[in-house]
Amino acid sequence: MKKFNKITIIGTGLIGGSLGLVIKRKRLAKEVFGIAKHQKTIEEAIKLGAIDKGSLKLRDVRESELIIVCTPVGEIVHTVQKIIPFLSQGCLITDVGSAKKRITQEIEKILPRGIHFVGGHPLAGSEKRGIESARIELFANSVTFLIKSKGTDITALKKIEQLWEETGSRIKIISAAMHDKIVAEISHLPHIAAVGLVNSASNRYLKYAAKGWKDLTRIALSDVLLRKDICLDNKEEIGRALGGFIEHLIIMRDLIQKGNSQGITKEFKKARQKKLKQERIIIAIDGPAGAGKSVVSQKLAAKLGFGYLDTGAMYRAITLKAIKQKIDLTNEARLIKMSQQTEIDFVFKKEKGAVLLLDGKDVHRELRKEEITNKVFYLAKLPKIRKRMVSLQRKIGEGRDIVAEGRDMGSVVFPQAKKFYLDASIKERAKRRYKQLLTQPLGLRGEKPSSKKIEQDIKIRDKKDSERKVAPLKRVKDAVYIDTTEMSIKQVVKRILDNL
Ligand code: DC
Repeated sequence: MKKFNKITIIGTGLIGGSLGLVIKRKRLAKEVFGIAKHQKTIEEAIKLGAIDKGSLKLRDVRESELIIVCTPVGEIVHTVQKIIPFLSQGCLITDVGSAKKRITQEIEKILPRGIHFVGGHPLAGSEKRGIESARIELFANSVTFLIKSKGTDITALKKIEQLWEETGSRIKIISAAMHDKIVAEISHLPHIAAVGLVNSASNRYLKYAAKGWKDLTRIALSDVLLRKDICLDNKEEIGRALGGFIEHLIIMRDLIQKGNSQGITKEFKKARQKKLKQERIIIAIDGPAGAGKSVVSQKLAAKLGFGYLDTGAMYRAITLKAIKQKIDLTNEARLIKMSQQTEIDFVFKKEKGAVLLLDGKDVHRELRKEEITNKVFYLAKLPKIRKRMVSLQRKIGEGRDIVAEGRDMGSVVFPQAKKFYLDASIKERAKRRYKQLLTQPLGLRGEKPSSKKIEQDIKIRDKKDSERKVAPLKRVKDAVYIDTTEMSIKQVVKRILDNL
């Protein structure tokens, strides 16, 4: 993006200060100027590297190419009004206020020709405030709304969009009315709900409040005046959202008072399913070969609309590459080098699920060959190879909901995941493997399978998987254990869903 000459940030608090840090670090302006109410804030902002210079006077916005108004919502229009006499022709103004309809309308009305306003609202921040909490990564992976109205200048909008892109935020361009409707539900209402929870709690019981209550009420610590201003600014939409919320509370109260068990369950279930869909969730499924991990994971991923990460396929893929390159499987140094030069990724296709790409090529047909199954352990036991695979697996899992299947998903790769450990008796696993082999073409199957031999092979694989030094297969304490011996796939999937 083109560098600005002078950017002025009015209000160098948490948001303004964090923006200043990005602008300075990325050298998006020749000069970053800060205006605050207290000299101490200016000094702090300079010390932190959020601005180059600053002042307490609004008239010092002079000669700015871009002005970012980061004052509390209730002061934004007034601030813009006061700086109008000092604006240069072509100057761009943006803000970060959390309600947009009134602000956009009023500012567009008062701005002289040739000066453009683009409303913005980063959905970032916390109950903390002030320059001392500012940080450069505050906006990373968050969403920033930019407002497009009838009066919006498209070039100005583009410039503001580019600026926000630099913060690592995802940009969503919408109308002011739509913005206010969305944030009423997902941001303003939760603050009011938190206030309700805190104010309705009996003082004498508060000392027993545990994590759940604390999680739900953290935002009651937010800045009081700011919250008040937002309520007044977005009163219609907040009123509507509150109405819907109260209706739900009344439904719940009635169901509970009537002891309507079915109705209560239905409400909890509905919320749970909705939440599962919305939250970024990692489901880790570990267990020995033949416990049903693959088919269950795929079905579960399809049902939840999650990505499916088959980590066994990744170990198989590098084994395939080693075989193709005729690498001696006891030559650890060469195997490690090869793995470090290997790219593995998955493309998530609706019709086929996750397709593994080995150095960009779809190799899924070759991965299940007996030769690979028997040789994987030469690579899977090497710490450096596992390190590379774990880092790839975490990268693939980034930013999407996944069902990850393997041996060390819960214990090593995704310790934060909801963990499941699938198991089955050796006999049952051998039976499943036998059936699976019969469905494979002869080329993949190798010699004709015998149940005895399969059972032996499984025992050997179990031993190798669970006795290797790094990341052995093990049942971690917080994993839900499911013995699938006598269960259908559907039953296992249901058990997992019920335990999420
Ligand atoms: O799940 P699978 O049969 O496709 O796995 C192939 C091999 O890869 C298996 O023998 C164990 C190994 N593996 C591993 O060590 N760690 C994983 N996370 C997944 C598989």
